[in-house]
Amino acid sequence: MSDFESVVNLATNRGFVFNASSIYGGLRSSYDYGPLGTLLKKHIADSWWKSSIKSKVNVYPIDTAVIQSTDVWKASGHLSEFSDPLIECNYCHKRYREDSSEEVFCETEDCKGKEPNFSSAKEFNLMFQTYMGPVKEEGNEVYLRPETAQGIYINFSNILRTTRSKIPFGVANIGKSFRNEITPGQFIFRTREFEQMELQFFCREEEEEEWFDYWVNERFNWYLSLGIKKENLRLREHDNKELAHYAKRTTDIEYLYPWGWGELEGIANRGSFDLKAHSESSGEDLSYFDEETESKITPSVIEPAGGLTRTFFAVMLDSYEEEQIDDDTRVVLKLDKRLAPIQVAVLPLSKKDPLIEVAEEINESLISTYSTEIDLTQSIGKRYRRQDEIGTPYCVTVDFESLEDKMVTIRDRDTMDQERVLISELREVLERKFN
Ligand code: GAP
Repeated sequence: MSDFESVVNLATNRGFVFNASSIYGGLRSSYDYGPLGTLLKKHIADSWWKSSIKSKVNVYPIDTAVIQSTDVWKASGHLSEFSDPLIECNYCHKRYREDSSEEVFCETEDCKGKEPNFSSAKEFNLMFQTYMGPVKEEGNEVYLRPETAQGIYINFSNILRTTRSKIPFGVANIGKSFRNEITPGQFIFRTREFEQMELQFFCREEEEEEWFDYWVNERFNWYLSLGIKKENLRLREHDNKELAHYAKRTTDIEYLYPWGWGELEGIANRGSFDLKAHSESSGEDLSYFDEETESKITPSVIEPAGGLTRTFFAVMLDSYEEEQIDDDTRVVLKLDKRLAPIQVAVLPLSKKDPLIEVAEEINESLISTYSTEIDLTQSIGKRYRRQDEIGTPYCVTVDFESLEDKMVTIRDRDTMDQERVLISELREVLERKFN
C-alpha cells in the first residue's frame, strides 16, 4: 500500500475522517471529521490562532458570515473572474479542468484507444449559488463565500473604529469556504467545502515588500513548528500568468504530497485592490488617516492564506511511519505532542474496580490540561499499538503494584521507553515532557 492509501485507511478506520453521507452511498468530495479528526483539526487551528494573535505584530481575530451581500462578490471580482477553464470530452461528455501545467487525458471506456478530443475551454465560475428567502427567483441569488478574506475587507472601517488601531495591523479569520471545484480529489486535499485560515495584514504601500517577506518567513516557520519535515516544504513564486486577479505577487508554501508538490498556503500581496474596489462599489470610505504623513491613504494588504484541512492532511502524511519490530509492523503517527488528538491515554492493566478508580482519578487530574482518554479494552500491548496509531505521545499505565507503591508507568510513543513515576509527581513530569 502507498503512504497515501495507508493514511487514508488509517484516517477512515480510526475516526479522523469519514466519507460524508456514507449511509446513502457517500457524496463525492465531501467529508466529515470524526472524534479524533475534530480534535486534531482543533489543535492545528489553536496553534494558528496562537501564532497569529500572539505574534509580535498587532493582529485581531474576527469571524465573518459565510453568506454576504452579492454586491461583495461583484466588487471583489469573484463573480466575473473566479473561474476555472472547463473542457468537455467530445466522446463521453465528462468534464475536466484544463490545467495549463498538465495534459488532460480522458480515460473512460468510451475514449479507450481514441485520440484525445476535447471541446474548447469555457470559463466555469467556482462559486456555489443559492437563494435567500422562500422564493427562488432572480434577484434573490446569494453565494457561499469562496474565501474568508472579503469578510475582513468589508469590515475594515468597523475594525478601525472599534480597535482604534494604527497600521500596520492584521485581522485573522478561520472558517469554511466553498468552491464548486471541477476536479476535486486526492482525499481532503481538494474538496468543495473546506476550511481556511486567512490573515489580512494592512500596511503602508512603501512597506509592503518588507511585510511580504516577513509573513513568508513567519508562515514557513509555522509549518516547521507543527513538526512537518523541512525537506517536504518549499516556497514557490507565482509567475505572472498564474497570479490571481487581485494579486501583485504571490509565493506559495508547498508540501511534498505523495503525488508531488501541492499548495498548503499562498502569501499574496493584494495591494490596495480589495479596499479600493469595495470603497468604489459601496460608496463607503475605506481609507485610513495616516497621522505620520497627515494624509488619507488606502493601505496595502499582505495576505497569508492557508488551508486548515490541507494542513491537517499534510500533518497526517508527514507523521505517518511504519516501523519493523521483529516480525511485526508498528504503525505510528509521530505527531507533534501539542497536535495529538489524545495527548495522554490512561490504561488500567485490568478492568478490576480498584485499578479503574485510580485510572479515573488520574484522568480527572489531567483532563483540564491535556486531551485524555481512558482506554480499557484488549491487552496492554494492543492498547499501546492502538495509541501509537493515533499519535498519542504518552500512555500512563496503572497496574496492581500502583495500588501498593502509588506509582504508574509512563510509556513514550516514539522511543517506547517506560519510566515509573509517583502518581503525586505525574503532572509535573508530564509538564516537563510537553514543554
Ligand atoms: N484568500 C485567498 C485565497 O483564498 P487560495 O490560494 O485560493 O487563496 C488559500 O486559497 C488556501 O486555501 C490554499 O492554499 C489551500 O490550502 C486552501 N484551499 C483552496 N482551495 C481548496 C480546496 N478546494 N480544498 C481544500 N483546500 C483549499
